[in-house]
Amino acid sequence: MRVICVAGARPNYMKVKPVMDALGTSGAEVVLVHTGQHYDPAMSEVFFADLGIRAPDHQLQVGSGSHATQTGKVMAAFEPLIGQVRPDVVVVVGDVNSTLGCALVTAKSGALLAHVEAGLRSRDWAMPEEINRVVTDRVSDFLFAPSPDAVGNLRSEGYREDQIHLVGNVMVDTLLANLDRALARDTVSDLGLRAGEYALVTLHRPANVDDPGALAPLLAALGELARVCPVVLPAHPRAAGQLRDISPRVQVIPPAGYLDFIALQAAARLVLTDSGGVQEETTVLGVPCLTLRDTTERPITLTEGTNQLVGRDPERIVKTALSVLEAPPPRRAPALWDGHAGQRIAA
Ligand code: UD1
Ligand code: UDP
Repeated sequence: MRVICVAGARPNYMKVKPVMDALGTSGAEVVLVHTGQHYDPAMSEVFFADLGIRAPDHQLQVGSGSHATQTGKVMAAFEPLIGQVRPDVVVVVGDVNSTLGCALVTAKSGALLAHVEAGLRSRDWAMPEEINRVVTDRVSDFLFAPSPDAVGNLRSEGYREDQIHLVGNVMVDTLLANLDRALARDTVSDLGLRAGEYALVTLHRPANVDDPGALAPLLAALGELARVCPVVLPAHPRAAGQLRDISPRVQVIPPAGYLDFIALQAAARLVLTDSGGVQEETTVLGVPCLTLRDTTERPITLTEGTNQLVGRDPERIVKTALSVLEAPPPRRAPALWDGHAGQRIAA
């Protein structure tokens, strides 16, 4: 069996690695394609080095652009490649534009399409990722769901039972496999921070960072929180220009590599984020997480994890942060978030 695995952006690498490994062990021929949606060394190369992912077999080098330009470039570059490689199956992960572009091409190519992280729904159609998820699921043959809520969404949308596979969370496979190496690093002390004493923040959703009117109250909340505990913020390139001079106690640093970022999460007293993956990782690490959004496509991190949705109101954010610092939630992890999702997918 020949399988193309697609990676394009930061949250894809840690999802694709356990699937590639398990497929390889099962005897499949794995071809790795990097679309080039993310291309800065800090958004791409560092993850290949940290996670020990071999160099991609094919680089599509699509780069940045509007949604249509980026998705269109992925499609135009992936179509001839799929004709040349002739895979039996294409595996796409997550919900980025590269996922959608390669899914649409695969669906019309005759190869089977497998979507890892199927069934997640925020029901917020203003999120480009929601469109990418729904369309990718619609044209997929294999729907690999991380959690029972995702299975429920797929069932209610009318997918056949034989398409839906509850396999657990591949991102957690990678987290557990690399945790000891991350914890051995000096990332926290090198930033002048002490374990258990600081808040870690990430912000990159267009709804939070593209509009200065939406970003200002979030930054005000971070400034307020920084009076109580130091804040460190690895800045995504989409937001780097907007995240300057927040407060002397908010340390804005370049995007962190995978091991450094896991080290920072694991030792944080609190995480505030609008990331999808960080909601899951904090749950498994048992670190309190406040999600700076009104919806989440990962509700299991609320019901069976350490996550809370706090929206964008600065007073509510600061008030909730202070109460979580006083009384952190207990550590618990959803079933099948156990480090073996990649193997279940390969099987
Ligand atoms: C993308 C995904 C988002 C995901 C995020 C993870 C889509 C629609 N969005 O958002 O779901 O949560 O990645 O990080 O696919 N840029 C650089 N260097 C890079 C990459 C991007 O400077 O290596 C800058 C460019 O100015 C670019 C902007 O970031 O225009 C946005 O990049 P893009 O890939 O379009 O979307 P993200 O915001 O990264
Ligand atoms: N991450 C990282 N460095 C950072 C921020 C995030 O390595 O500076 C990792 C994080 O641990 C998780 C993944 O990137 O594994 C999440 O990606 P991101 O937040 O960019 O995207 P999303 O999950 O929101 O789509």
